[in-house]
Amino acid sequence: MSNRSGSTITLPASHAVIAPAINGVHVAESLTEAQIPEHVAVIMDGNGRWAAQRGLRPTDGHRAGTENIRAAIESFAERGVRCLTLFAFSTENWKRPRPEVRGLMRILSSTIDREVKPLHEAGVKLRYIGQIDALNASLRRKIDAAIELTQHNNRMTVCVAFNYGARAELVDAVRRMVADGVPSDDITERTISDYLYTCELPDPDLIIRTGGDQRISNFLLWQAAYAEYVFSDTYWPDFGERDVDQALAEYANRTRNFGGRPAHAE
Ligand code: IPE
Ligand code: IPE
Ligand code: MG
Repeated sequence: MSNRSGSTITLPASHAVIAPAINGVHVAESLTEAQIPEHVAVIMDGNGRWAAQRGLRPTDGHRAGTENIRAAIESFAERGVRCLTLFAFSTENWKRPRPEVRGLMRILSSTIDREVKPLHEAGVKLRYIGQIDALNASLRRKIDAAIELTQHNNRMTVCVAFNYGARAELVDAVRRMVADGVPSDDITERTISDYLYTCELPDPDLIIRTGGDQRISNFLLWQAAYAEYVFSDTYWPDFGERDVDQALAEYANRTRNFGGRPAHAE
């Protein structure tokens, strides 16, 4: 296992992951600390199809999706994931029918009202990535207040990507570099990372997309250069502990080379 260098201390029982057999390959009984990704990012897709299957409206699917968020955060936290980014609304999602977009804005607002206190009590530090200026003033105030309230928590960072698009993020970064007068010779990969919304977060190790589609949909294009991808057929509102374990087990079974030779082949 060569995900990250470091120790292979067995996790306490509460962090042990019961790993299922994947493609007939039996994965270790429990994952070690080094096998757990530091940063997991989730494309929470499938709300619309979840609702359609039940004869409900897309907005009902989005509501069901947000009702799953606290349990999902807890599952990742219990397994030792330190940072979780949740893709909730893309810059392209404004193209959806107006009632759906309005519904999504209302749902974000009520989710903040309902979830911030329990997440704060659970030691979660909340962050936001995306173009916050396009949101209405009341939503912006709620997001800012949640970030401020939870800023000193350190059990896990949960970063909500809302009105986020990776191309828009790169455009914003370039504009800010120009506005700051950064000389072209000073622009390195590090400079670009530092100008992204994610500047304080590590790059994602694992990106999970739920809902069965296998595409990136403009999510973390720069940061995901060496991320592992796991695609789950489960619709987001149904994505539970078993799916979390399955994704983490699949990640633990990967060999990450970052362009080099795997350690055992050196
Ligand atoms: C993902 O669910 C949430 C958002 C994009 C806001 P979808 O609404 O895209 O669900 P499907 O893909 O239609 O099932
Ligand atoms: C990606 O899902 C965005 C979120 C989950 C927030 P979409 O449903 O918008 O992606 P496409 O349009 O199918 O690629
Ligand atoms: Mg979708």
